[in-house]
Amino acid sequence: MPLDIVIGTQWGDEGKGRVVDLLSRDSHLVARYNGGDNAGHTVIVGRQTYKLHLIPSGIIHPHTTAVLGSGMVLNPQTLSEEMEMLRAAGVEINPDRLWISDAVQLITPAHRLLDRAQEAAKGKGQIGTTGRGIGPAYVDKAARRGLRAGEALDPDHFAGRVREHFEEANRLITGLYQQPGLDVDAMIEEFMAYAALMRPFLRRSGPRVQAALDAGQTVLAEGAQGTLLDVEQGTYPFVTSSTTTSAGVFSGLGLGVQPVRRVVGVVKAFQTRVGAGPFPTELDGEMALFLRGTGANTWDEYGTTTGRPRRVGWLDLVLLRYAREINGLTELFLTKLDVLSGLNEIPVCAAYRRASQTLSSLDFSGDSRLLAQCEPVYQTLPGWQEDLRACRSWDELPAAAQDYVRFIEEQAGVPVKYISVGPERSALIERS
Ligand code: GDP
Ligand code: IMO
Ligand code: MG
Repeated sequence: MPLDIVIGTQWGDEGKGRVVDLLSRDSHLVARYNGGDNAGHTVIVGRQTYKLHLIPSGIIHPHTTAVLGSGMVLNPQTLSEEMEMLRAAGVEINPDRLWISDAVQLITPAHRLLDRAQEAAKGKGQIGTTGRGIGPAYVDKAARRGLRAGEALDPDHFAGRVREHFEEANRLITGLYQQPGLDVDAMIEEFMAYAALMRPFLRRSGPRVQAALDAGQTVLAEGAQGTLLDVEQGTYPFVTSSTTTSAGVFSGLGLGVQPVRRVVGVVKAFQTRVGAGPFPTELDGEMALFLRGTGANTWDEYGTTTGRPRRVGWLDLVLLRYAREINGLTELFLTKLDVLSGLNEIPVCAAYRRASQTLSSLDFSGDSRLLAQCEPVYQTLPGWQEDLRACRSWDELPAAAQDYVRFIEEQAGVPVKYISVGPERSALIERS
């Protein structure tokens, strides 16, 4: 009954999609347990590029079953678009291989509108959300008034609940934010169509996932966002609204706490962040342009969901150690090592200096302002000039690239099991 977990160790966009694609080869079920269509997971197979926001990346492998767990928030419009996109790409979508938890919370146009209105009202203190309605949908869940997908199984009841939701949201939209309300009858019509779309896929998914584990099947949990965006342990308030760490897997899939075989931490060879919040190793100027790229390539650092340029900086090992502890990582998957080719030297943040003290670790979860007061203490490693994109084995990597990888695993205290050197499926080095 192996349960494996893929986790982003940074601020998201570490390359989880391609990691899940790899590990799905040997998994029966691939399940998302947190977040919604704020995620953007890229998988590149040959000439085909998939950008998945909601449905687990493992769906691309025909033998898998994809699960949308109860810890998620689901925008049915995105679901409908993504199903179409996948079908057009030849991926089979049917109720045998796509299960949607009946306890999943629905995102509505009112949540999206409120997300944007709340950000606009914040002025300077903006979080820089994806505008996908994630925060307001989780607010409704916690306030115990959210719409759950399972309610769609009873059309009369659902119509009434949708009316209640939009009437209440309109009071906020028109009253507090002084914007025109949404047309409630039109929304009911739209949501009745979504109800019909979702109905065949709705399941009590937790017991089914547990049954699969009990039967000896392999379940892969696909984390969305990253450790530092966790609503409790991340750089609050500059976080998303769900549990992004490995601990969220159990509640977000409806499983009892049980042993986990692997917790694979995905780490980019440098650091990126979209949206506001502290970022000790952030760079600007020429070096930032080098790491970000120009936007001409699919892997350049522009948001998969929003297209925003990502903030970039050197790899931060203090934060990586934090991610190891919070998630119980068993191994690392290092992505985008190819991007560092061409540098003479590569600084890596090995510690922080704060108030004349040197710190090798920092628990900032109670007050992320601490991070903003930290100066990175860099250790500079030699760079390499060779293009790594054709390397397929450890021995083909230049010595300086091998040393960079060894430094990361020694400093993080977790072995680097995989290294990727390009966005496509085959650009991979597996270490024995
Ligand atoms: P996710 O949200 O963690 O799944 O990551 P995203 O898909 O948002 O962003 C990762 C980006 O990096 C995507 O454009 C991937 O195609 C690309 N990528 C992943 N691994 C590599 C790699 O090893 N090298 C390069 N150059 N690009 C990569
Ligand atoms: P994947 O799964 C990177 C960030 C937003 C913002 C903050 C809150 O592709 O790694 P939200 O819309 O969730 O309320 O925004 O979280 N954010 C992400 N950044 N990758 C993501 O997902 C993200 N999902 C949310 O930019 O700073
Ligand atoms: Mg992403």
